[in-house]
Amino acid sequence: MSDMASTTVTFRVLRGTIINDKLVQKTQDFEVPVDARTTVLSALEWIKGEIDGTLTFRRSCRASICGSCGMYINGRTRLACKTKVTDLLDGNAFKNIAPAKSAGVIEVGPQRNQPVLKDLVVDITPFYDKVKKLDPFVQDGPEKQIHVSKDAFSQVNMVSNCIMCGNCYSDCTAMVENPNFFGPAALAKAYRFVADPREGHKTERLQELSEKNGIWDCTRCNMCIDACPKGVAPMEAIVKLRSLAMEAGITDNKGAKHAMVFKDDIATWGVLNEPFMLLKTAGVVGALGQLGNALNLAKKGKIPNPFPFDHKVEGLDEVKAIYQELKAHPIDVKTRSNDDGPGAG
Ligand code: SF4
Ligand code: SF4
Ligand code: FES
Repeated sequence: MSDMASTTVTFRVLRGTIINDKLVQKTQDFEVPVDARTTVLSALEWIKGEIDGTLTFRRSCRASICGSCGMYINGRTRLACKTKVTDLLDGNAFKNIAPAKSAGVIEVGPQRNQPVLKDLVVDITPFYDKVKKLDPFVQDGPEKQIHVSKDAFSQVNMVSNCIMCGNCYSDCTAMVENPNFFGPAALAKAYRFVADPREGHKTERLQELSEKNGIWDCTRCNMCIDACPKGVAPMEAIVKLRSLAMEAGITDNKGAKHAMVFKDDIATWGVLNEPFMLLKTAGVVGALGQLGNALNLAKKGKIPNPFPFDHKVEGLDEVKAIYQELKAHPIDVKTRSNDDGPGAG
């Protein structure tokens, strides 16, 4: 046993049960003896075996393979079997874990963005339905290629590491605003098929993914990259899907228009011209729909200058040089060198 053999830690567990069709939740504290090897999952097993057999959670492999033990642990979604109690208490910069806010306390709750069924168990049906909706299988069709290069397949491999744990889905900020958003796992899965040379309907897939609730609804907050225990980096897969969609000429949507206007503004002025950006992205009707917001911003003196070209931005020449360099040597999002997959972005 390690020098932590006699340490006791408080596990503050958010428990829940459905009563008269409504979820009722309350926290319950358990004092758990831990040592340097204790994981959150082994602590929960100890509580279940020694204190309260009704505590409910999912688990199977205890080895970060099955994806069933995703939980909200000290403010982020993690795999309980992969998360050591010592890392949570002291922090571990290498594993991107901040020290516990309350010393000696570990807070555990169910994953977010999904309905809770009981204690730490959530209903994963919507998560799986979204993956199924994107046809998660290679389809025969006109764009199918016979030759499969190693480079091309490294993209497929990395996204294939997904164990469907739902951690990224739980921490996704876009999902909070729009529960219909496909979410990081389903979109990473979609990239797996778009990147597969054997897929026969790549452009059709990109068209569908560019519609509402798809790739342009991601806010690029990075949370899914942090949350993923398998290095899938869904946000990078989404960024790649966006580039591929635009390369395929799928630009008649707000997201692509926004990206193009953004790029042009920076290349031309070195700053964004936000009032005109809204007009160019959403059109006159869309911009008029934002009039209420604009008036609120104006009242608070927060309307940005619509004429950024009235003075030269410092460093603009360097910005222009970067754009020229990228134009001369464009980055191929699918096969850039030393790229082991979306996570390499
Ligand atoms: S980067 Fe996009 S998909 Fe990933 S968590 Fe943020 S909003 Fe969700
Ligand atoms: S992408 Fe990562 S976090 Fe998301 S479901 Fe797959 S393995 Fe889990
Ligand atoms: S129990 Fe299988 S991933 Fe944690």
